[in-house]
Amino acid sequence: MTTIPADCVSLFDYERYFHERVDPAIRAYIAGAAADGITQHENRRAFDRVRIMPRALVDLSTATASTTLFGETLDYPILIGPTAWHKLVCEPGEMATAQAASLTRTWMTVSTQASVSLEAIAQASSAPLWFQLYMQPQWDDTLTLVRRAEQAGYRALVVTVDAPINGIRNVEQRAGFRLPPGIESVNLRGLARAPVADSRAGSPVFKGMLAGAPTWSDIERLARATTLPVVLKGILNPADVAPALAAGTAGLIVSNHGGRTLDTVPATLDVLPDIAAAVNARVPVLLDGAVRRGTDVLKALALGAQAVLLGQPVLHALAVGGVAGVAHMLTILQTELEAAMALAGVSKLEQVPRETVRLLP
Ligand code: LAC
Repeated sequence: MTTIPADCVSLFDYERYFHERVDPAIRAYIAGAAADGITQHENRRAFDRVRIMPRALVDLSTATASTTLFGETLDYPILIGPTAWHKLVCEPGEMATAQAASLTRTWMTVSTQASVSLEAIAQASSAPLWFQLYMQPQWDDTLTLVRRAEQAGYRALVVTVDAPINGIRNVEQRAGFRLPPGIESVNLRGLARAPVADSRAGSPVFKGMLAGAPTWSDIERLARATTLPVVLKGILNPADVAPALAAGTAGLIVSNHGGRTLDTVPATLDVLPDIAAAVNARVPVLLDGAVRRGTDVLKALALGAQAVLLGQPVLHALAVGGVAGVAHMLTILQTELEAAMALAGVSKLEQVPRETVRLLP
């Protein structure tokens, strides 16, 4: 029976205990950024550079943190984002995360690289699930995953578009991370893999790993092939908004993969206002990357997001406290968001005024 330390009262506390307790190579994989970690650091700094401008004496008698997304009610605008292989930190893996999500009625995004079958997770879940899709080198394999997600009752497909190849993961390389025996991407069993880089064939990137990487026409094809909303994750440049909407995308996630793909791209919060302006409320815009506080959620909403997703905090809490850890971590963040709303005089989260925040120079 895991006991959660009594002084674990914030997401940063879970992060600290995660670093104290988890194997160094696994920590390096989960927490490690790409290259020099400049983007990972910036993601956090961007939140810390924003100040909240509270309004006094606002009537909060009908205040609520609930919102709607794709026509459904969300208790809190906080979702579990996709992360790979939850069995790395907790034996039941994604089954535990899904149980915590169900207990707290939190929507969860299941990764293509989950360590448990997407059907088993769906069967154990009472809260809505989204499926994160890595387009596969073979279209038929992509379609197989899509049909499985549809049949299992997933509500949306989240297509990750910022990682056609892995980033330069120096932290992970130095630590010598390898997937431990018994942990694998079970949902990809039997599917064709991208060709292994062959330096004799020329560039290992362009002639090897990138073969089969998707382009806009594949997103269009996917959107036509599925009944589910297609949400693109990994949009940072406002110039990508028009092609995304033209391809039939139903939502965008402003994300830099937690700083794990291309180092030195901007912080997600810094580009959010420009993306939101380009979208102009035609589809929902979500954000991930270094969300650790209820005030961060409020800031993201004031700057144009409808909701945020959590990546690493879920794995920190799963490692420290299993189901109870994740449920506790989510409750902490939900309570912090309500406290931020109450103290800032924000009574509802649909269209949080831009004036709620001020950017430091
Ligand atoms: C990562 C891949 C799994 O960030 O998306 O490690």
